Amino acid sequence: MRILSGIQPSGALHLGNYFGMMLPSIELQMQGEAYYFIANYHSMTSLFDAAERRKHTLDVALDFLACGLDPQRSVFFRQSDVPEVTELAWMLTTLAPMGLLERCTSYKDKVARGISPNHGLFAYPVLMAADILLYDSNIVPVGKDQKQHVEVTRDLAVKFNETYGQTFVIPEPRTREATALVPGTDGQKMSKSYGNTIEIFGEEKATRKRIMGLVMDSRTPAEPKPDADQNLAIQLLRLVAPPAVATDYEDRLRAGGMGYGDLKKALFEHYWNYFAAARARRAELAANLDHVERVLADGANRARTVAAVVLKRAKRASGLD
Ligand code: ADP
Ligand code: TRP
Repeated sequence: MRILSGIQPSGALHLGNYFGMMLPSIELQMQGEAYYFIANYHSMTSLFDAAERRKHTLDVALDFLACGLDPQRSVFFRQSDVPEVTELAWMLTTLAPMGLLERCTSYKDKVARGISPNHGLFAYPVLMAADILLYDSNIVPVGKDQKQHVEVTRDLAVKFNETYGQTFVIPEPRTREATALVPGTDGQKMSKSYGNTIEIFGEEKATRKRIMGLVMDSRTPAEPKPDADQNLAIQLLRLVAPPAVATDYEDRLRAGGMGYGDLKKALFEHYWNYFAAARARRAELAANLDHVERVLADGANRARTVAAVVLKRAKRASGLD
């Protein structure tokens, strides 16, 4: 079984990225051959600063390795180190109906948020399809918001196979329902573009402030809160604390007598401890960038070997040989 996923180098890693995509990806690396990459071509659709892209690319590499990506087990690379993906993207784009791309909610959301709609942003799902199909991927672990793009990939793979003969493996998205949509500090989906994130490797003081600033209602501490399971801090605590601890806080909130301040303090402590080991690993990696660069170079070599075989198959099928 081959597993593949990617993440854009577009800003600091947050709890949504971690629980929605990174942790499931890291767990899946035990179950098959995993390919994980830093989607730097994709970041070009909305980030136009070269130095920032370089910095975020290195950050994602450090984040992923610190969180447990094992380069002995998984192939870890930069998307642009396998430029074959852009060739496949062209072949797929000629089979992508305009209507299919126009229906993509992620594109519509980005435009609604004021990102200027360049052609790359519109064609983004086709490049993502090329990422997935180029490695004969079976499983694609992603958060809920990316599921539609994997559906587009399936459509394009089927269409290519019907048009030119059996060429591509049809992939499946894999989302973890419990953590597919992590809420941000305002209760909306946590996202870099909404300014409501809690960073994984953020600075201690700033992160404490973010967590203490979680939006709550105005009920007094004494009041019982029958809807405690819906509470934002409880939902986040469930991610970073042992289940019994989270349940205990939920019960205390429901019974009345505990203030939101105490709950948020507990959330911060659990959050900080949950990532303590990864934080230490990240600091070690940051002091050994040669090692990180070697991991990515080796990953690119391994990825390119597979990509060459699949691309050749696609070119032969479509008469480009
Ligand atoms: P952002 O919305 O912050 O820009 P990305 O679009 O770069 O995040 O997402 C990277 C990965 O993290 C994707 O697989 C996405 O599904 C996942 N992800 C992002 N935000 C969340 C969230 N709030 N809950 C669950 N998964 C998320
Ligand atoms: N579009 C994904 C995101 O924004 C990143 C990505 C690019 C990806 N190519 C991929 C994810 C292929 C999974 C598979 O998060």
